Amino acid sequence: MKKITFLYCFITAFSFAQQNPTGLVTSKAMVVSAREEASKIGADIMKKGGNAFDAMVGTELALAVAFPFAGNIGGGGFMVYRKANGEVGSLDYREKAPLAASKDMFLDKDGNVIKGKSTETALAIGVPGTVAGVFAVHRKFGSMPMSEILKPVIALAERGVVVTKKQEKSLNDYRDAIVKVNGAATLLASNFKEKDTIKYPALAKTLKRISKNGRNEFYKGETAKILVDYLQKNGGIITLEDLAKYEAKWRKPLQFTYKDLKITSMSPPSSGGICLAQILKMIAPYDLAKMGHNSPEAIQVIVEAERRAYADRSQFLGDPDFVKIPVNALLSGDYLKDRMATFNVDKASLSSEIKEGKVTYNESTETTHYSIVDKFGNAIAATTTLNDGYGSKYYCDELGFFLNNEMDDFSAKPGSPNMFGLVGNEANSIAPQKRMLSSMTPTIVEKDGKLFMVVGTPGGSTIITSVLQTILNVYEYKLSMQEAVNAPRFHHQWLPDLITFEPSTFDNTTIDKLKAKGYLINEKATPIIGKVDAILVLPNKTLEGGADFRGDDTAVGF
Ligand code: GLY
Repeated sequence: MKKITFLYCFITAFSFAQQNPTGLVTSKAMVVSAREEASKIGADIMKKGGNAFDAMVGTELALAVAFPFAGNIGGGGFMVYRKANGEVGSLDYREKAPLAASKDMFLDKDGNVIKGKSTETALAIGVPGTVAGVFAVHRKFGSMPMSEILKPVIALAERGVVVTKKQEKSLNDYRDAIVKVNGAATLLASNFKEKDTIKYPALAKTLKRISKNGRNEFYKGETAKILVDYLQKNGGIITLEDLAKYEAKWRKPLQFTYKDLKITSMSPPSSGGICLAQILKMIAPYDLAKMGHNSPEAIQVIVEAERRAYADRSQFLGDPDFVKIPVNALLSGDYLKDRMATFNVDKASLSSEIKEGKVTYNESTETTHYSIVDKFGNAIAATTTLNDGYGSKYYCDELGFFLNNEMDDFSAKPGSPNMFGLVGNEANSIAPQKRMLSSMTPTIVEKDGKLFMVVGTPGGSTIITSVLQTILNVYEYKLSMQEAVNAPRFHHQWLPDLITFEPSTFDNTTIDKLKAKGYLINEKATPIIGKVDAILVLPNKTLEGGADFRGDDTAVGF
């Protein structure tokens, strides 16, 4: 552990002067995603002349094949883009609550949350948005025929995907839960080992039908009928009407500045953009670079800003189609200055004193992000999810994909702790057709009016703070893109009132200094925080990829 810390400090100190790239560098285009197979399919599409939007469609669907843990056609996501001409936009293909959903659907007769009902039953499944999302992107910006984009994805599903060491572990960890729901005959019940090849013939067939019949195959065609039949047999409430009604939605992304950076990120129903903006604006007056990277002083400032932003998130954020969100007020300079007025450099704030701390929100940690830049200068940040690892674990063997358990991202019971010890709020309560609040933070950063960075990550509520730290690592601490991704991360989300550090990465002196000021540290075995996949545009216009070593993430480009 000491050795890792020493090496890391050495790399960090060295890079302060240099910011030399340490990740893959290419001159024209790049995809960084959770699996090499998906990055390669996206990069090959661009090599053939396709643009970043074509590559987005290919990468997203290839992740559904190569990374069933979080890649999906049974879930949803968000995509933020910046075109070469500077125009920005975003697409919301988040899942929706079915028409038959109701506010109290996860409560017992006494009004208490029924453990597991919003995560492990077919009621946990939201109406999937991914297929609508990729078709909406293709319709608006695609330059290659959909069938050509889908060809390598279908071939991958037929040829199969080689199991990595990390995937072997993930399949082992989740096998019992998957078999419990789907029975021993389900595809991923087998004891797959590293280097085995898993073929996905059912998914290939589904994708072929989608390729032939288009978006409506999933929402109104044979696939829709098989899916609804499967869900209803398993106690789900999604109907053909739910699928037929689903639409992805183009939304105005959130734009704000941090010093001389212009940042474009996802607006609600993701909390990502607003929280990221609030935190960056609250920390802007402090000289973080002088305090030092991951120093106790810098951690303290960031944690106090995070604490305040997450408290607001819990109170105010939900689906903007259903609740009014005071975006301008939440981002106003005076308001944020006022929020930090109670920050005392000698002493930790208490979350219970920051606000009548009755609300935060429940979310699990498994999602996936990819970043794309094409040779024309278009950039895409997209984050997509099934919620938990392998979603609800419901795997429709006939169609070949997992279904999400995104309904758990709603607050099952406003104002009351959920099964993770968190509490939720009215703004994010369940209603038919409503989208559940998300933390996904696909983000694009401009500097001097030019594309600078494309960034995002999985990690549930830690998504926002991981994206934040990655931007700061490059901008304030001059780390290369890959170093910025590699750097150890920490997280605070207001409630529980704890700082979580990645395991074996922060030294005891740092932690002791924070404890001495009254900060509570998560002393339990902590998980890794996020798997950031990012691209930095270097001064000579080449691209540096930052692919997170915490997963099988890989940058591919040319
Ligand atoms: N389910 C993870 C998120 O939407 O943030």
